[in-house]
Amino acid sequence: MTRALRRRVALSDDSDWTAAPSPVPAASRPAAEVLAELAAGIAACRRCPLGAARIQAVPGVGSPQARVMFVGEGPGFDEDHQGEPFVGRSGKLLDKIMESIGLSRAAVYIANIVKCHPMTDPTDPEKRGNDRPPSPEEIAACRGWLDAQIRALRPRVIVTLGAVAARVLLQDATPITRIRGRWRSYDPGEGAPPVLLLPTFHPAALLRNPDLKRDVWSDMKSLREELSKP
Ligand code: URA
Repeated sequence: MTRALRRRVALSDDSDWTAAPSPVPAASRPAAEVLAELAAGIAACRRCPLGAARIQAVPGVGSPQARVMFVGEGPGFDEDHQGEPFVGRSGKLLDKIMESIGLSRAAVYIANIVKCHPMTDPTDPEKRGNDRPPSPEEIAACRGWLDAQIRALRPRVIVTLGAVAARVLLQDATPITRIRGRWRSYDPGEGAPPVLLLPTFHPAALLRNPDLKRDVWSDMKSLREELSKP
């Protein structure tokens, strides 16, 4: 074990994953305040082993007033190093996709299903290409954070990026090729209002197969139309 990893593991041992509960219910407090509290809870989270191996937690980024929330799968190498979602190659493409319909990183909110980098070899966070999909246990352990973020933000629309985010939020294993572009509804729980949800492809899939850009462009036009409604 490297010295850096030993330090991280030591730091993780006595940390509590829960954020200190506030006496005021989240729904009646400013979104920025609740999101900051959730980010602190995520930074201290040890509900699954990803918390001990990561370099940084990646809670989410964007505007507390966002009308659109993009949800990806989980952080990779670049996100683990910078503490911000979608900052690598996929992220640059996501920025362009958003720009194509007049959205920016500052105007939306971007988060992931899991908040820490799932690694094939968790002893070496400095290795590139050390990525794997999150396990069902990791997803289940992390899921509460995302729902709490959605309840704090109350976005008008959630756009899921890729098969994993769609499958987890919709509890629907239909292939992404069949569900993308079809509007659905998402219940974030605890009595919060349902949120419109649009599944589309993950930017990484577009990098592998540029033919998918046409479908994503169609999905973005559908999103733009929805956002233009009063
Ligand atoms: N892919 C994701 O799903 N999320 C990120 O934050 C980066 C890449």
